[in-house]
Amino acid sequence: MKRTHTCGALTTINANETVTLTGWVNSRRDLGGLIFIDLRDREGLTQLVINPEESPAAAETARPIREEWVVTATGVVNERPSDMINKKIDTGEIEVGVTTFEIENRSKSMPYNLDDPQTNEDIRLKYRYLEMRRSNVGANLRLRHRTAKIIRDYFDRNDFIEVETPILSKSTPEGARDYLVPSRVFPGQFYALPQAPQQYKQILMVGGIERYFQIAHCFRDEDLRADRQPEFSQIDVEMSFVSEEDIYQTIEGMLVAVMSEIKGIDIQTPFPRMDYRTAMDTYGSDKPDTRFDMLLVDLCHVARTCDFKVFRGAVDDGGVVKAITAKGLAAGASRKKVDEWTEVVKLFKAKGLATIKIEENGERKSSIAKFFTDEQLDNIVETCGAEPGDIVLIVADKQPIVWNALGRLRLEIATAAGLIPEDQYNFLWVHDFPVFDYDEEEDQYHAMHHPFTSPVAEDVERLEAEPAAVRARAYDVVLNGVEIGGGSIRIHNSELQAQMFKVLGIDSEEAQLRFGHLLEALSLGAPPHGGIALGFDRIVMLLTGADSIRDVIAFPKTTKASCLMTESPSTVDQPQLDELGIAIAPPAQ
Ligand code: AMO
Ligand code: AMP
Repeated sequence: MKRTHTCGALTTINANETVTLTGWVNSRRDLGGLIFIDLRDREGLTQLVINPEESPAAAETARPIREEWVVTATGVVNERPSDMINKKIDTGEIEVGVTTFEIENRSKSMPYNLDDPQTNEDIRLKYRYLEMRRSNVGANLRLRHRTAKIIRDYFDRNDFIEVETPILSKSTPEGARDYLVPSRVFPGQFYALPQAPQQYKQILMVGGIERYFQIAHCFRDEDLRADRQPEFSQIDVEMSFVSEEDIYQTIEGMLVAVMSEIKGIDIQTPFPRMDYRTAMDTYGSDKPDTRFDMLLVDLCHVARTCDFKVFRGAVDDGGVVKAITAKGLAAGASRKKVDEWTEVVKLFKAKGLATIKIEENGERKSSIAKFFTDEQLDNIVETCGAEPGDIVLIVADKQPIVWNALGRLRLEIATAAGLIPEDQYNFLWVHDFPVFDYDEEEDQYHAMHHPFTSPVAEDVERLEAEPAAVRARAYDVVLNGVEIGGGSIRIHNSELQAQMFKVLGIDSEEAQLRFGHLLEALSLGAPPHGGIALGFDRIVMLLTGADSIRDVIAFPKTTKASCLMTESPSTVDQPQLDELGIAIAPPAQ
């Protein structure tokens, strides 16, 4: 390479050496004839000094340079005088006295102020390469690379084989819409981009691969959020002849390796475990953030005997009444604040939020007090463990609404009040999920995980008569309230798999059409098997402390799934469409 050192390498040890550096102009200043340049490459910054009296040609060349021009400089490493030392950078004790200076490339002026954190994200995404050069995106990509390396080494040590599975594949339901790719050779037919390599990895087990992993690219056309991208990477794992315990151990080992090598933190194993029902009942979430309490408590026993129609009606209709207690927040709970909280629960279809404030003198203030006897109020306050200064927040509704509303409110209040410890990593297994979700609008059961998940053996006989009561051999791994992975022990028997499709409303003809290959494989000597997939981007996001998954992906998409840099998606030429036999319909009204 042209350079002898990177811009992050030089220290006083190199004093008096002649060096060559290459990089981008981070900034320049002209001071009394001297030109100072902060030169940047991916490893750091080094200060260059050009003295026009000693190096007139170099000064002449350097005079017109601007931010982000690409240059090469050769010169001598000098120790800085003690009052000029810059402690903020690794190379702050030296500077390079330039003797020759070369411009490799000029740059137009920057399209926006690269150092202004207020710049809107759209323009940053359009100029993603500028972000990479200057901001933490570059550092995040490096951490992502190191994490992938640790993961690959871990699985290699443990006798796993990384196998690549097709991108042009057949639709596998993972709960999102598919991205489709039209076939030119078979007009009117489509490949689906994999939402996950689920069927392939199961078939790899039938193929005797036994221990598979892959850092796999997945594609899902779904509503995007801060922790979701339309294309993302999974650490995908499948193992034969295993139980849940083997999967837990394998994944715990991997996460321990990552946390210790990347963060220098020892994570205790085994991780705590919680069944789905407990998670929902006490945290109002299937991905509980266990770094703080504010747990949901049940008030049905009071609601059942009270005169407040809203509470009484909820329990009489099979719903529930639950509460959380915000410790010490009564004084801060202005009317406006309570209105904001009410808006939060309404997002989850709750009809209202009842509050009981316990004043410092023990007096209780509540809009619903008139519906309760003193004993009933005592009972509520005691059940909630509420003390002077606290406020109790209650929702009455159908169970899922109460869970979701209070689960989210709990997070919002804790975040706003700064109750969540930052430097804590709470891993948790959530298990015993139900196999099915019931969709009221469609009057149809859906697979909560995916249709290849094995029911708990003793629940199998209830599969058709009582689907809602069937538990799955499924598990999620949660870190600080983020679902970082999920998996299950699979059905390895083609009859049970066919029965599962039936409950899901997929008749045998359709099952043959969509999953015939899997049913066939399962009937030809499939070993018992199970696995899991972890969201690689999400894990890297949590490791870097980034707020958004976009910060750890080189070329992310917006929440509308577009790439602002390449301006995709985009239209294509008519001949391309003709070749594929595709006509574009006018936009739907
Ligand atoms: P699941 O659908 O739970 O399971 O996905 C596994 C993990 O992938 C991450 N993830 C995402 N990350 C970023 N953007 C997205 N759009 C996105 N969707 C999911 C999450 C999630 O926990 N085939 C099964 C796994 C198995 O059964 O083995 C599956 O894909 O962190
Ligand atoms: P209302 O009788 O509608 O004026 O409501 C009286 C109080 O009960 C108000 O504070 C409402 O916010 C609250 N409330 C209404 N519906 C519910 C509900 N489903 N769960 C909890 N509180 C509610």
